[in-house]
Amino acid sequence: MNVAFVAVAIAVFGAACDRDSPTSPGEHEIETEPTVDAEAGKEVFERLCITCHGPGAPPEENLTGVTQRIDYAEFDQIMDEGKGTMPAWKSVNEHQRRNIWEFLDTYEIE
Ligand code: HEC
Repeated sequence: MNVAFVAVAIAVFGAACDRDSPTSPGEHEIETEPTVDAEAGKEVFERLCITCHGPGAPPEENLTGVTQRIDYAEFDQIMDEGKGTMPAWKSVNEHQRRNIWEFLDTYEIE
C-alpha cells in the first residue's frame, strides 16, 4: 500500500508596509473633472435652443423626456451633425453639452 501524503504548509506573511505615512495637513484631492452643472446648461439652452425647443414647440421638437428616448452619444451626434432642420452646434463644447444634457434630464414643456 502506497499512500502518498502531501502536506502543504502555507505560510502567511504579514507584510510590513508603511503605507500609513501621515497625510500632510491641508492636502486636498485635486478635482480633474469639471463639474456638470444643470444651471449652466439651462443658460446655454435658453440662449441657443429655446427658440425652437421652448413652449409651443411641435411634437418633434418637444424635448420633454428626451434623455429617456436617446442616450448621450446620440445627443452628442445630433449636436455635431444636426438633425432634420436643426442645425449642428459644433461651437457648443463637450462641457456645455454635458451641462445641457443634465438640464434636459429635468426639462419639461407641455
Ligand atoms: C432652428 C430650430 C432649432 C434650434 C435652434 C435647435 N433645435 Fe434641436 N431640433 C430641431 C428640430 C426641428 C428637431 C427635430 C429634428 C427631426 O427629428 O427631424 C430637433 C431635434 C433635437 C433633438 C432630438 C430630439 C429627439 O427626440 O430625438 C435634440 C436632443 C435637440 N434638438 C437638442 C437641441 C439643443 C440642445 C439645441 C441648442 C443647442 C437645439 N436643439 C437647437 C430644431 C432646433
